[in-house]
Amino acid sequence: MKIISAPDYQSMSRKAANIISAQVILFPRSVLGLATGSTPVGVYQQLIEWYKKGDVDFSAVHSVNLDEYRGLSPEHSESYRFYMNTNFFNHINIPLQNTNVPNGLAPDVEEECRRYDHVIGDLGGIDLQLLGIGHTGHIGFNEPDEDFDKTTHCVKLKEQTIQANSRFFKTMDEVPKYAITMGIKAIMQAKKILLVANGASKADILYRSLFGPITPAVPASILQLHNDLTVVADEEALRVVREKCPEAIG
Ligand code: GLP
Repeated sequence: MKIISAPDYQSMSRKAANIISAQVILFPRSVLGLATGSTPVGVYQQLIEWYKKGDVDFSAVHSVNLDEYRGLSPEHSESYRFYMNTNFFNHINIPLQNTNVPNGLAPDVEEECRRYDHVIGDLGGIDLQLLGIGHTGHIGFNEPDEDFDKTTHCVKLKEQTIQANSRFFKTMDEVPKYAITMGIKAIMQAKKILLVANGASKADILYRSLFGPITPAVPASILQLHNDLTVVADEEALRVVREKCPEAIG
């Protein structure tokens, strides 16, 4: 595991974007695993800027997103498909047909989960997976559980996650209670993982994920077993890591 510290959000975003652009420059046909949430927005903005300067070309890239809310259409302004199109895909030259997000409206959710696993399999797996981290320690929407859920599945979101997501919706009733998420297996089989985190509210869960016991009660803790994990985080998010394991920060 490599932990890279950044003084602030902008710097975190730039360092993480550097890793993704290097991946695409070195391997133009990369399969990128992509994440939503507020944390990666700056990463996408930086990549768009470099694309516009002509520094990075996404025309041969494929992408698979981690998750989607159950019940939201791609046109819904809070759906993850809408987020990806507006925050990233519409501003770069990735062909939209190369991008994949689970279908939140699929009538048969089990079939949609199997389809999504096949999409990932047919692409040959993920070369670089970008991850944020939820306050419960979730990655994608793999919430704390008794076991690590391996394949794409439909998940009932934890109350803490619903509360955190509610800032994006007008009323509590509108906040989705279920989501479809890529499983732990596809994430862990990614050749490289890049985890981004910022802000004081992530300090405790980031420490527990990276240095606590490996347990499905903290889903992100499984990342300790990955052999190519890079964490890029700002100093606020690294506060507890810096306090307890300063030597781990490179
Ligand atoms: C969301 C997403 C995750 C994301 C996490 C943290 O709900 N499903 O992929 O990493 O929660 O979000 P944020 O970056 O806004 O804190």
